Amino acid sequence: MNILVTGGAGFIGSNFINHILSKRDDLNIINLDKLTYAGNLENLKPVEGNKNYTFVKGDITNAELVDYLFRKHSIKYVINFAAESHVDRSILGSEIFYKTNVTGTAVLLEAARRYNIEKFLQISTDEVYGSLGETGLFTEKTPLSPNSPYSSSKASADTAVLAFYHTYGLPAVITRCSNNYGPLQFPEKLIPLMIINALNNKKLPVYGDGLNVRDWIYVIDHNKAAELVFEKGKPGEVYNIGASREMKNINIVKLILNKLNKGEELIEYVKDRPGHDRRYAIDSSKIQEELGWKPSFNFEEALDNTIDWYLENRQWWQRIISGEYQKYYELQYKNR
Ligand code: NAD
Ligand code: DAU
Repeated sequence: MNILVTGGAGFIGSNFINHILSKRDDLNIINLDKLTYAGNLENLKPVEGNKNYTFVKGDITNAELVDYLFRKHSIKYVINFAAESHVDRSILGSEIFYKTNVTGTAVLLEAARRYNIEKFLQISTDEVYGSLGETGLFTEKTPLSPNSPYSSSKASADTAVLAFYHTYGLPAVITRCSNNYGPLQFPEKLIPLMIINALNNKKLPVYGDGLNVRDWIYVIDHNKAAELVFEKGKPGEVYNIGASREMKNINIVKLILNKLNKGEELIEYVKDRPGHDRRYAIDSSKIQEELGWKPSFNFEEALDNTIDWYLENRQWWQRIISGEYQKYYELQYKNR
């Protein structure tokens, strides 16, 4: 079973490959990744040398390369993790988001159609639904209403995937997951950024009033759900994934400070993110009832695991924050 996994050097994709190859030897994974700032081959140390794993450095928007890989590896399955994934970066410049997330997905879909593949899994996000008020949950029937260039590019990709299902019968499925956390997450995202800033006694920038709500899920729970949808999900369907763990941003930040024995004086309220979605919350009853998935990690324990991982892997993130990333960080926060 040859699977093209894209974006497998990023946070969720590398956790996925490491996890799946640790328990299965009946599949071959070809990981196509451009190695952008967010891609890191160090994340894939556990599968280095594994006979069922091949890495290809390349861009999903490169139709010639994608066609070549489908032919060379007789690809019959695709899992598309590759994306520009950070909302703040999409606000600084949207072009690469539409290129990778929309054009890149369309290139993969075209190849998938030509080579009659058996399953295409699009890893999408709950952000395509927009923002919730104080109550209610996103279901798969919630209309798409994206508010950032990132989420609009992901929503466009979702419509392309469904169009290929309806028009060509491509056996494609979509997952829409809530906010992930866990080891190997690039430290531009809320949880690793706050852990690392706290460890370095740097200010913790909280956007706006800090009362925006996100619904958190441990990356392993997300990946187990994605694996199940890949195996059993019905073509043409969308499956929401979430662990029903809503938290206000400020409460997560305080919890992290508390766990690291750091004081709340490190918190700094900064100018809000433009178009900042107020609340995300997922109804995952469809995947639970139809495919039998349920989250297995407790939030506090998984957050402890995550903090421990960043404490034990300082070299991993020190290399990141001392490189190119520093320029982004300065640009991001200089006007706040
Ligand atoms: P990430 O930014 O950590 O990793 C993205 C990976 O894609 C990187 O390895 C990067 O090099 C690669 N990539 C980027 N552009 C590429 C291109 N043109 N061609 C090939 N590879 C390319 O992202 P992540 O957090 O691991 O997210 C993975 C997927 O999951 C994304 O599609 C994202 O939209 C989705 N998602 C993320 C979350 C979350 O909380 N992080 C939640 C729900 C869904
Ligand atoms: O919901 C799923 C999405 O979650 C994924 O599709 C995206 O790829 C992923 O980046 C994430 O998007 P968010 O914008 O929700 O995640 P982020 O970690 O950037 O921010 C989480 C919340 O924390 C959000 O309300 C903004 C706030 N925040 C973030 C940062 C980086 C801060 O207050 N300060 C910060 O420095």
